[in-house]
Amino acid sequence: MTTPQQKHILLGITGGIAAYKSAYLVRLLQERSYLVQVMMSEAATHFITPVTFQALTGQVVLTDIWDPRIPNRMAHIEATRKAEAMLIAPATANVLAKLASGVADDLLTTTAMARNCPLLVAPAMNREMWAQPSTQRNIEQLKQDGVLIVGPASGNQACGEVGEGRMEEPETIMLMIERALTHKTWAGKRVLVTAGPTMESIDPVRAITNHSSGKMGYAIVEALLARGAEVTLISGPVALTPPLGAQLISVVSAEQMFNAVTEHIEDQEVFFSVAAVADYTPQQSAMQKIKKSAGSFTLELAPTVDILASVAQRSAPPFCVGFAAETNHIDEYASQKRLAKNIPVIVANNAHHALGHDDNEVVIIDQHGQHPLARANKKCIAEGIVEHVFTLL
Ligand code: CTP
Repeated sequence: MTTPQQKHILLGITGGIAAYKSAYLVRLLQERSYLVQVMMSEAATHFITPVTFQALTGQVVLTDIWDPRIPNRMAHIEATRKAEAMLIAPATANVLAKLASGVADDLLTTTAMARNCPLLVAPAMNREMWAQPSTQRNIEQLKQDGVLIVGPASGNQACGEVGEGRMEEPETIMLMIERALTHKTWAGKRVLVTAGPTMESIDPVRAITNHSSGKMGYAIVEALLARGAEVTLISGPVALTPPLGAQLISVVSAEQMFNAVTEHIEDQEVFFSVAAVADYTPQQSAMQKIKKSAGSFTLELAPTVDILASVAQRSAPPFCVGFAAETNHIDEYASQKRLAKNIPVIVANNAHHALGHDDNEVVIIDQHGQHPLARANKKCIAEGIVEHVFTLL
């Protein structure tokens, strides 16, 4: 059933073994509330049947330009008019060649030509086919024509060879669709983001760290990238996939994070300090493993530099956004931190709800007052924060 707020995506599938992954892609699109119309080339139907996609989408799968079920024979026009975007995944070397030279000899290629929405293609083919000068020429042509190329990825191929040409994973394709459909309000803005925990070494096998997963910071990075910002991410140790398109600098300790921020802060317009930076670090990290001995053990800690406060103290600071993870008196402590660090915006979180979780609820505190964002996944919260900050720049 269609709901008014649903966005439509036209998914074209061409003849490659990666077509089976497109069934999962349909699921991902549906999870994000997209209504998916599938269109298959004749070759694609030899790899996976239209029935699969019909069952998944609840829509008739379009395969034939002469399909008598379509009353006015205008499927190639109608299918794209409602679509926010057209995606061809997998896209074979053959369909890329046709698109690059304007050949429209079946329903899919005719529709691609008749579209009035963005076109994304996810190439999938044997590595030699991908490396062919003709394919590379076609890809260049498509880029010039404004087509968004997603992937391909490298790795094991269905044919048994290893190399570049695998279809990009459905999650990445999903991300690229969302980016393509996001208004580029942050285009040209240079933004520095810190994310994740820091880890302070005690000896070669032990360290002090915290429960930050980095998810909030990485979600901020994704929201910025989708809006066209140029992002440098300085990340503590996390188990997250590096965001595609950001410059990633990996660090471990608070000192390394401070040095990396100092090195990259020049010319940044905005600084999101999302990292949970250790406030203290061992006075000395032992060179050898500290051996257990009877009785208690005392570890001397020295304070680290407050990175955010040091950035805010610069003569021409970027627009600084701090994050405050508190367990009690959340808004009050966060407001105090905003003033103490001399920053225009702080985002207050409840540490019990935020650290390590996929969801969050926050209060954005700025000169105008408090702006709560209701509990939602960190992607939505990040989008809310980034959009709010944009209004203050
Ligand atoms: N922060 C920082 N460098 C530090 C400590 C914190 O840049 N050495 C930044 C964080 O990235 C965050 C903000 O300061 O944006 C607040 O961090 P938080 O840990 O909540 O507060 P602290 O200033 O460390 O104070 P406290 O631990 O006493 O709550």
